[in-house]
Amino acid sequence: MNQLPLARGDAPGKIILFGEHAVVYGRPAIAAPVTQVRARADIFPARTCTVEAVDLHQRVDVAHAPADDPFARMVRLVCDALQRPLPPWRIVVTSDIPIAAGLGSGAAISAAIGRAMLTAFGAAMPLAELSALVYEVEKLHHGTPSGIDNTVVVYERPVWFVRGQPPVPFAVARPIHLLIADTGVPSPTKIAVGDVRRAWEQDTARFEALFDGVGDIARQARAAIEAGDIPALGPLMNANQDLLSRMGVSSPELDRLIQAALEAGAAGAKLSGAGRGGNMIALVGDEDAVRVTRALRAAGAVRVLSTSIQPQGML
Ligand code: MEV
Repeated sequence: MNQLPLARGDAPGKIILFGEHAVVYGRPAIAAPVTQVRARADIFPARTCTVEAVDLHQRVDVAHAPADDPFARMVRLVCDALQRPLPPWRIVVTSDIPIAAGLGSGAAISAAIGRAMLTAFGAAMPLAELSALVYEVEKLHHGTPSGIDNTVVVYERPVWFVRGQPPVPFAVARPIHLLIADTGVPSPTKIAVGDVRRAWEQDTARFEALFDGVGDIARQARAAIEAGDIPALGPLMNANQDLLSRMGVSSPELDRLIQAALEAGAAGAKLSGAGRGGNMIALVGDEDAVRVTRALRAAGAVRVLSTSIQPQGML
């Protein structure tokens, strides 16, 4: 007989609509949760504290795990924050968010573990504090996270985000329909972010100008989203993609999907997340979603998700 868990927690995936990479350097960015894909954590009574990641075939003994193990780090951070000893729990993690694909799987897994632990402890924690704990784990995944991934998966709302600041209230006036297509090429955030860092060090003026361009696009996009001017977002996505290409974080696979989406009638398309592989997003109207989905599949997408950001998405 299947044992019922003591507690459960979950968290969504995420997409970055505008501003990836530049957000690491203090420019604003816009991100939204993707609720169709989620990470989950189930807690069962046990003798010791372990985390089992079923999909990754990993089992971590928290008391003896190295300091840089992300699962053990999240468990310890929650215990420290609540001033509790390590509990005798088996924490089972599952996720249908593709890994290293720009959809925030690492942050979502940490957030799911945190949420399940809070329920099992019967404790509450403000979202800002849970987000800060997930941020600590994100630092293990890549050294200089902006904090946007942990913020959007913990708040589960579209966010206007500037590094080091709390997320700002942000109204979505009309629904935004997007397709999310996966190149199937894994791309760890750490590598793309590290490459951009080295390129920025070598040619700081050029990269600062690219980041400024991205920041301006994000500001225009926010104004358009708040005004319900969804058609204006297409050209802004294309302009953001052009700047990302010039940063060196696009890839032939991403370019192929972006071109296919635009040719099939998408209003705009860009990579989403760290780039080099992972996922791209395309802005579509109801009437072209099926045609663009077909074109993305024909161009090699291994998976196409349809999502929409809804007007009640107010933080
Ligand atoms: C990753 O989802 C987004 C990046 O801007 C990195 C970050 O913000 O930490 C590439």
